[in-house]
Amino acid sequence: MRQVKIFHKIIAANLANILLILVTGFLAYHSLDQVLTKLRFMEIADGLSASFLEMRLAEKNFFLYGEKSALPEIQAKIDETLATVKRERPDIVSAIGEAKTAGLESNLQNYGHTLQQAGTGGAPSQAKVRAAGHKLMGFMTYITASERTEVNRIIAGSERGLFLSFALILFTAVGVTLLLSVRVLGSLKRIEKAAHLISGGEFEKIEPEKSRDECGMAVSALLTMAGELRNREEQMIEARKLASIGILIAGVSHEIGNPLNNISMLAQNFVELYDRMNRDEHIEYVKRIEDETGRIQRIVKDLLDFARPRKPDFHETDINSVITKSMRLVQNMISVCNLDAQLDLEERLPTVYIDEDQIQGVLVNLLTNSIHACSPGDRLRLATRFNPGSARVEVEVEDTGGGISPEILPHIFDPFFTTKGASGTGLGLFVSYGIIKNHKGEMRVKSEAGAGTCFTIEFPVHGTTERSESCLISGS
Ligand SMILES: Nc1ncnc2c1ncn2[C@@H]1O[C@H](COP(=O)(O)OP(=O)(O)O)[C@@H](O)[C@H]1O
Ligand SMILES: [Mg+2]
Repeated sequence: MRQVKIFHKIIAANLANILLILVTGFLAYHSLDQVLTKLRFMEIADGLSASFLEMRLAEKNFFLYGEKSALPEIQAKIDETLATVKRERPDIVSAIGEAKTAGLESNLQNYGHTLQQAGTGGAPSQAKVRAAGHKLMGFMTYITASERTEVNRIIAGSERGLFLSFALILFTAVGVTLLLSVRVLGSLKRIEKAAHLISGGEFEKIEPEKSRDECGMAVSALLTMAGELRNREEQMIEARKLASIGILIAGVSHEIGNPLNNISMLAQNFVELYDRMNRDEHIEYVKRIEDETGRIQRIVKDLLDFARPRKPDFHETDINSVITKSMRLVQNMISVCNLDAQLDLEERLPTVYIDEDQIQGVLVNLLTNSIHACSPGDRLRLATRFNPGSARVEVEVEDTGGGISPEILPHIFDPFFTTKGASGTGLGLFVSYGIIKNHKGEMRVKSEAGAGTCFTIEFPVHGTTERSESCLISGS
């Protein structure tokens, strides 16, 4: 179904409001015009009424005092008034209508007519003239009164109309604004949610967008971008995997090749020199072969841990208990090396969702590295704390040992990278990092050559769905 775009809705709402304003304006203008016409008539009516009063006064003089000159005076006034009515006729007609205008003219003519009859000494009596004058005045009073009522009616009607129109305009504007805000804000919320899910890598949780308006299009574009990102991410992971496999194969060949060469050489020498050597030398040779085999065994074991990790067994766990157990495992080494070990654990930590054995392996690995880097008297500190900002539990393994120089810091997570010669495999951090990544956690390191090293591991609190796969390396 094709949906109306927000742009079209805004245009439609504005057009509706403009139409309403135009209609209101037209009605207001029309009412005003009517009132003005009527006021103009009132002005004319005032003039006419004044003339009628003068005529009636002259009529009184004629009948009471026999003033002969009054009659032509009245006739002149009548003619003058008729001329005024004729001149102003369009205005008068548009104010009171044709019928009333004709009525006014005929009343005026009738009054003049009866006066003429009285003047010529004909039959018409004083009473007849008075009745005609009275009728004329009455008609005028009736017209002005009804016009005043009409003006009041128009003004009251316009007031009501204007009030209703403005209420309607206001209602439409507020209604449309609210509707659009709800719609736009709703879409922005969906965009925000989608962006959060994308940044958390939870692409599959993003709901498809049904709306086809601008906001819907933005969400759809975001989804397309998310799909592209996922594809690229998968491609990058594949590329990284291939690169890792390459490094791994080269490393395995090199790491296992060396002891194998040594074993081969030792075995050849042993055979060639067997008769010339005494028993102790025989034992020495076999011991060296055993050492080299031990090294291969260690490499193979670490590699197997990495290549065939058993299915993790996640449980809700208190990380402090895992730390205490790990510390117990390395306690002997700590005592032998005469280190000052500290546990700095935050009480009532939120639980985390981890495979206890795997995390214990990681911690023992980090602790062993620290012990190797420390000299007698150095300090080793294990700390936990809850970071409410990120809703993560943080574990720190810190030592005041030899530290890591900036040149080698970027390589410590590479497979087979070791500075320990034959006694190291260079797989500890590589495997540990993979395990933390599987726990949707983060592992980062800060180190200063000669001052010490601090590894930080972050776990999402149990029940949160956040996911992060980054591994930050920084020197301080
Ligand atoms: N706490 C530490 N202090 C100094 N150097 C460290 C520390 N942890 C790791 N490293 C460096 O990182 C390298 C890689 O460590 P790892 O992967 O555990 O392999 P390995 O311990 O077999 O050498 C170590 O050889 C060492 O140079
Ligand atoms: Mg190690």
